[in-house]
Formats: sequence, structure tokens, C-alpha cells
Amino acid sequence: MAVSWRAAAQEALYGPGGFYLANRPAAHFRTSVHAAPGLFAEAIGELLSRVDHALGRPDPLDLVDVGAGGGELLSALSVPSGIGRRLRLTAVERGPRPEGVGFRWTAEVPEVTGLLVANEWLDNVPLDVVCRDAAGVDRVVLVSPSGAESLGPAVAGPDAAWLERWWPLREPGERAEIGLARDVAWAAAARRVRRGLAVAVDYGHVSDARPAGGTLTGYRDGRQVPPVPDGTCDLTAHVAMDSLAPGAALRRQRDVLRALGISAGLPPREQASTDPAGYLRALSSTSRAAELLDPDGLGAFWWLFQPQNAEDSQLLDLEPFEGDAADRAEGRRV
Ligand SMILES: C[S@@+](CC[C@H](N)C(=O)[O-])C[C@H]1O[C@@H](n2cnc3c(N)ncnc32)[C@H](O)[C@@H]1O
Repeated sequence: MAVSWRAAAQEALYGPGGFYLANRPAAHFRTSVHAAPGLFAEAIGELLSRVDHALGRPDPLDLVDVGAGGGELLSALSVPSGIGRRLRLTAVERGPRPEGVGFRWTAEVPEVTGLLVANEWLDNVPLDVVCRDAAGVDRVVLVSPSGAESLGPAVAGPDAAWLERWWPLREPGERAEIGLARDVAWAAAARRVRRGLAVAVDYGHVSDARPAGGTLTGYRDGRQVPPVPDGTCDLTAHVAMDSLAPGAALRRQRDVLRALGISAGLPPREQASTDPAGYLRALSSTSRAAELLDPDGLGAFWWLFQPQNAEDSQLLDLEPFEGDAADRAEGRRV
């Protein structure tokens, strides 16, 4: 039976035997956490230190990773100096807890005093796909278990309002992906931050650069595949970042990571003769940093910063990050 993409993906990813209950993300695609676990965790540790400072060193201080996959980010974290035993780590994940994980593992977002991070979570929150028909009516796209699509009912209610506000269609045949389910999921997670900062990191787009035709796709064993909601592949679509929390700061990953101390600078040449092993390690770190900062890859990801109050955003010193205006002018796509 054909159902909406949202219903189909919900079942295929998170239903009984669903993709994410049976698979570890790392086996199927590469996030920043997989590309450079140590470096990405180092940047998160630096951000956590700033939040800790802004909050006046609370005890406990939370670091909560929503959509934690295999828990790789928290596992790679070196506890920043000055935080020590005050740190409380929590992975929020629907998939099973891997063996040997030494931090809290839960399916529900706990109350947070500190930092909540969601790296590549929201692109996996199922959404509806819609298409404008020949008569100019925006209709929900239905999909069968084999991936065959057909047009269903007219888009109505809050979905129609979201479409009109964030991704209006103009011509017959145009498609859009309704981000309302992500907005709701993000708001619910961010609301759990009592004091501190919520950060969503993902590939996505903003109003003046929506991807024509949409972005829904599948991944299996490291390869992009046609999206089929049969539980054998990841189903993902880029995130409409600007609708998640209108007015919140949006920055590109390359700018954020540089501001948090990640650099792809080469080690000094003379180190090659004085300390060859150290030189090789530094070179390898440089290449991992370059992948995180790549303007045509992970560096183009968006970071959404949602502080609990304005004072925190000042203390976090967000202003020096170079903004998205330049990217829009360049017409970059993620
Ligand atoms: C693309 S993976 C990202 C994994 C990890 N954050 C990383 O960057 O490598 C998305 C993860 O979000 C999890 N997820 C999706 N919806 C969730 C929810 N409502 N609560 C907890 N985890 C969820 C999935 O099970 C999956 O492991």
C-alpha cells in the first residue's frame, strides 16, 4: 500500500527491524564524527568549556548527544581541563547501546544544564514530500514499499502553512520536503535545555537556496542509492535549517570549527627530519581537519546555535564567526 514518505520512512528506519535498530550509521555513511572523531570531539570539548564558563561552572555539567549513533562522539571526547568529574555524558539514541559504553544511554532527551548537540540527527527525522500537480495543486507524494511514487491528497493544515512560509512551489512538477516534523522534533529537544546551549549540525539549506527537486535519498554500505522504504537503506533529506528556530544564529561548519581551534595548517617542514613520526601524525591530523573544513563537503554543513538566553550567546562569542550572508552571495549549495 502506498503511504506518505513520512509514514514510510518512519517504519523503514525506526519500526520493528527498522534500519536504525539493526544498523550502525558508521557502516553506511561518513559523518564528521566518523571522519575525524578526535578533532570533532576536540571542537565540541572547546564549545563545552565555553558553555561551562558562561553558566558559571555548574555541577553537574551536561553534554548530551542526540541521535548519537554508536556513541562515537562522546567516546572520543577528552574531558576538558577544569570540568573533570562535574561532566555528565548522555547519548540519546533509538538504536541499541553498544557494548562497553560507559555513559548514560537513553531514548529520551533528559533535562540539560550545559550543551546539547545533534550531529546529523535531523536529516533522519522522516518528513513528507510534496509535488505541485498539473492543475497547480500541491499534493502529498505517496510511496509504495518498492519505492514507486504516486500523488496523494492535497497538502493541508499546518503542512500547507509551512510550505507557503518556507518552501513555496511555483510550477507544476516542482517538489519540496516539508520540514515541520524536524522543526517540532528540534523544538522539543531544545526545550529540554534548562540552562545552556542547543546546537544542531547538519547538511541543509535556507530560504533563498532551496534545492530544486528536493534531496531525499538513500545510503547503503557507503554508497548513495535510490530511496526505497524497505528497511535496507538509510533514508535522509537535507534540513531546512532556517525554519528550525527562526532568528537563531546559523553558521557554516568551516567557520565554527576554525573559531573553535581546528586548523588544517601543515606542520613545519623541519619536523620531518627532527621528529618523523610526529610529522606524519601531524600530517594525518591536517588531512582529517581539511575534510572537516572542506567548503564543498563537511565544511559546508550548517551549525544552528540556540542558546537558552541572550546572555549566553554573548558569552559564547558567536559574532566573530563569518556568517551565511557570504555563502548566499556565492550561491553555495551543501
Ligand atoms: C545519521 S545518524 C548520526 C549519528 C551520529 N550523530 C554521527 O554524527 O555519526 C542519526 C542517528 O539518529 C538516531 N535517531 C533518529 N531519531 C532519533 C530519536 N528521535 N531519538 C534518538 N535517536 C534518534 C538514529 O537512530 C541514528 O543513529
